[in-house]
Amino acid sequence: MRRLAVYDKKGHVAMSEITNRKRDHIEIGLKHDVSMKIPSGYEQYSFIHQALPEMALEDVSLETTFLGKKIGAPLLISSMTGGGGQAETINRHLGEAAQALRLPMAVGSQRVIFEHPEVLPSFKVARDAAPDVPIFGNMGAVQLNYGITVKHIKEAVAFIDGDGLFFHLNPLQEVIQTGGDTNFRGLLDQIEEVTQNVDFPILVKEVGCGIAPQLAMELERRGVRAIDISGAGGTSWASIEALRATDPRKRRLGEVFSNWGIPSALSLKLCREALPKGYPLIASGGIRTGLDVAKAIALGADMAAFAMPLLEPATKSTQAVIDFLTQIMDEIRVAMFLAGARTIDQLKNTPLIGGPF
Ligand SMILES: Cc1cc2nc3c(=O)[nH]c(=O)nc-3n(C[C@H](O)[C@H](O)[C@H](O)COP(=O)(O)O)c2cc1C
Repeated sequence: MRRLAVYDKKGHVAMSEITNRKRDHIEIGLKHDVSMKIPSGYEQYSFIHQALPEMALEDVSLETTFLGKKIGAPLLISSMTGGGGQAETINRHLGEAAQALRLPMAVGSQRVIFEHPEVLPSFKVARDAAPDVPIFGNMGAVQLNYGITVKHIKEAVAFIDGDGLFFHLNPLQEVIQTGGDTNFRGLLDQIEEVTQNVDFPILVKEVGCGIAPQLAMELERRGVRAIDISGAGGTSWASIEALRATDPRKRRLGEVFSNWGIPSALSLKLCREALPKGYPLIASGGIRTGLDVAKAIALGADMAAFAMPLLEPATKSTQAVIDFLTQIMDEIRVAMFLAGARTIDQLKNTPLIGGPF
């Protein structure tokens, strides 16, 4: 497998290209507004207000299941980090909050552990902090063309005692990243091969550009057990990479494509219509409030996921993450109360009005 480690003047292993990238992503995310300028699409939908919901607010239950596991609310703490710098602190805070609120969590890309095993604790900390909730690993699918094999995928999940692994699809980000991995040939076959040779669920996500319905159907056919559409309208990876770029041509490329992607709500709706009933779908990309979460579930998601909004609280404390997520849960509860849905199953069958499509 290609090694990217670089050495400082004293011959010590310096931070590799990958760990530097991950550190830059966190710093840029904390300092800059890197949200897309196109909306996620959820704002175009409304629930039908129920002036007499015929229940008490406390009757609303957020409990649900995902891939057969009970969880406290339909919320996933989405893949962000692992590696050097603040990663261990961030993952500890996220993990402790996941455990306290009984929410599933995914760690960030684990490729780095095969080059820098010393950063393993920054991933393991998530499982240590959250022994009782589903924890998912993460790997760029394109890495299957750059040395990552089924064996690495099994190890990545074993290292965190995980419940499954997300392959992320990020062709736009790789194109803009200096030295990005842009050979996306033959990945469907390789993803299928992984699904057939591991005994845990393989899930697939985008990173903010959305999944088209044809691809969703193909992934389902090839054994992928759940899809996070991660659509456009939230974090723009083209903007993040533009801010990192030192080459002006790369910077311009990132700016030109900063709003590229299928708007989240559209990607979700089309994938829901295309996939078999009951196939697990996650909505992320621009989910910013509990009302967005409720609308995503009414549009057909089983769960919604947050990434960027959790970053700042996660650098501060476990309590800051809990406070943010508790607020989101309150907002989901109020949306359900006013829309007349007591349970997440009822919310899934609650009609929305409006919408562009
Ligand atoms: C700081 C940061 C780091 C991320 N790192 C990863 C990663 O390692 N693997 C991955 O699949 N997605 C990664 N993502 C993408 C998110 O999981 C998510 O798909 C995307 O940011 C859209 O959600 P959002 O609008 O809520 O941020 C990262 C996002 C952020 C903000």
